[in-house]
Amino acid sequence: MINKNFLHYFITGTNTNIGKTIISCALLSEFKKRGISCIGMKPIASGAYLNNKNKIWFNEDVNLLNKYSNSLYEFTKLINPYLFKYPISPYTSSNLENRIINTSHIINCYNYLSNLTDVIILEGIGGFSVPFHDNENSADLAEKLGLPIILVIDLKIGCINNALLSLEAINSRGLKLIGWVANHTQIVDTLFANENYIELTKYLNVTPLGRIPYLYNLNINLISHYLDFSSLF
Ligand SMILES: Nc1ncnc2c1ncn2[C@@H]1O[C@H](COP(=O)(O)OP(=O)(O)OP(=O)(O)O)[C@@H](O)[C@H]1O
Ligand SMILES: [Mg+2]
Repeated sequence: MINKNFLHYFITGTNTNIGKTIISCALLSEFKKRGISCIGMKPIASGAYLNNKNKIWFNEDVNLLNKYSNSLYEFTKLINPYLFKYPISPYTSSNLENRIINTSHIINCYNYLSNLTDVIILEGIGGFSVPFHDNENSADLAEKLGLPIILVIDLKIGCINNALLSLEAINSRGLKLIGWVANHTQIVDTLFANENYIELTKYLNVTPLGRIPYLYNLNINLISHYLDFSSLF
């Protein structure tokens, strides 16, 4: 098997709804293309929908990650140990459902999956530091996992502050930011976005893995076209 520590990544973002899933899928599809077995893990997902055919609750992120990886359906409970009904914060959704998010359980699922595959792309929830309950948050989970971090940044106003705060939090956990992706989830002024990109490149001091423009017809192949993951292999 390939060196796991090298090929397992934690994908976080400067916020929710920023492109973590689509970029995770692009990364998975790159590994798959190279014949490397890979699983996309989404330990906590908020927003469940009932599949009317098989009467099973599903989450769109989990489905997408499964689609672009070698995930097996029977491992869904390990890939996504916590699925909450409402698309709201894990703190509130877990409270509503009376289910406590246990990071040790997530680590156990991760360890089990690690024995089945060479690559795990683990998508975080929201930004880097999202409360699970009064004693733990997503940064605690990232610290326990100890994986290299990839940060997704939406190049919109305020992104430099968001990126630098995320970097500070990542560093304070003793974790390593090994790459970042600039994304455009909306159309913004090009000159302004270019300046932000240059500034971010300077301050983050880590390889940018690419810059994705706003795409009217988004698909994973097209996204891959804007990304260069060669520094990760
Ligand atoms: N470059 C882009 N061009 C157009 N649409 C985009 C782009 N990047 C992301 N999107 C859209 O923005 C939405 C959010 O993307 P995505 O689901 O990957 O974000 P996320 O960070 O994983 O969100 P969450 O925090 O809910 O997990 C999706 O509908 C996606 O298709
Ligand atoms: Mg997502």
